[in-house]
Amino acid sequence: MSITREQVVEALRNVIEPDLKKDLITLNMVEDIQTDGKKVSFTVILTTPACPLKNLIQQACINAIIHFVDLEAQVTVNMTARTSTGRSKSDELLPNVKNIIAVASGKGGVGKSTVAANLAVALAKKGASVGLIDADIYGPSQHIMFGVENERLYVNERDGKQYMLPIEKYGVKVLSIGMMVDPDRAIPWRGPMASKALKQLFSDADWGELDYMLIDLPPGTGDIHLTLVSAVPVTGAVIVSTPQHIALADAKKGISMFRLETINVPVLGLIENMAYFTPAELPENKYYIFGKEGCRKMAEEIGVPFLGEIPLVQSIREGGDIGIPVALDDEGPVSKAFADAADQLIRQTAIRNAEQAPTQRVAAAAY
Ligand SMILES: Nc1ncnc2c1ncn2[C@@H]1O[C@H](COP(=O)(O)OP(=O)(O)O)[C@@H](O)[C@H]1O
Ligand SMILES: [Mg+2]
Repeated sequence: MSITREQVVEALRNVIEPDLKKDLITLNMVEDIQTDGKKVSFTVILTTPACPLKNLIQQACINAIIHFVDLEAQVTVNMTARTSTGRSKSDELLPNVKNIIAVASGKGGVGKSTVAANLAVALAKKGASVGLIDADIYGPSQHIMFGVENERLYVNERDGKQYMLPIEKYGVKVLSIGMMVDPDRAIPWRGPMASKALKQLFSDADWGELDYMLIDLPPGTGDIHLTLVSAVPVTGAVIVSTPQHIALADAKKGISMFRLETINVPVLGLIENMAYFTPAELPENKYYIFGKEGCRKMAEEIGVPFLGEIPLVQSIREGGDIGIPVALDDEGPVSKAFADAADQLIRQTAIRNAEQAPTQRVAAAAY
């Protein structure tokens, strides 16, 4: 007997996406089903090009057809991806940016910028299109971390309006206020000026299509944060902390800000930075300088996903200073730590998009 399209659909109702906990047919993840005698082929659309569950899902599809339809079926499963979005269709600003992700902390110096730069690179290495905005107007660092301090910004004219072109490096489109000002002159930004400058990084730049746009925020819970959530609908926030008690206390404040009813930005997860120190010559040794697993425990306590831990190592600091993020390395435990955290971020973003409504921009009057 020839296999029918309906049989394939029914069989694939038994394949559950492990993160989203629904079957592939319900999730609309299967397209282009073709059958011919015992031959079956179809395409599974993953929610992200870097889906860590790709092989698992592919095998589960093959098993389902063989088990539920025909032991002799010859199954071809094509895997492709379409990053899901946490945006609603009516957003006017940056409609082609699927996910806007804030990287925040409470405390300064915990490694937000370092983590943002390396996550951006790790996501790009996995095939996603990625942008990075340095929103730390008072102390920008991404132009240094990406080694583009001396590059000029170009503008593009479209419909009589000029747009900045983000600088593309290591597969990431980057814009930092640090690219626009004289590095040796301190500018006394007033609050409204800083807010305006940040808004322009969104509205006056040509970002094109992006799967993920990361926003590297300044420490604290201030003006710039409020400007961000009122300028664009933020898909979710990643909180960076060290395992130290005071850093965690501040991280908690950061989380409660995003969770305020008036702000309502989902927290996608917590990253523990400087989780332990490992000397280059003793790679097996771990010294828990700031305490052990503080972030992991807090994540559990307050019900926030834990995205991973990044060690305190010299190569991370050096990479930041010379403008070559360690996440670019092809191998090594440090590069892997960032790649793993990026995988978790991708997963949590896909889960958030499947389960929660698009974020609404905060009306300026709400605060
Ligand atoms: N995991 C790490 N290992 C080593 N140095 C780190 C690590 N994370 C951050 N740093 C260094 O710590 C300093 C502060 O990091 P940064 O990313 O600028 O923090 P923030 O943006 O939160 O202020 C920088 O000099 C950076 O190179
Ligand atoms: Mg910073």
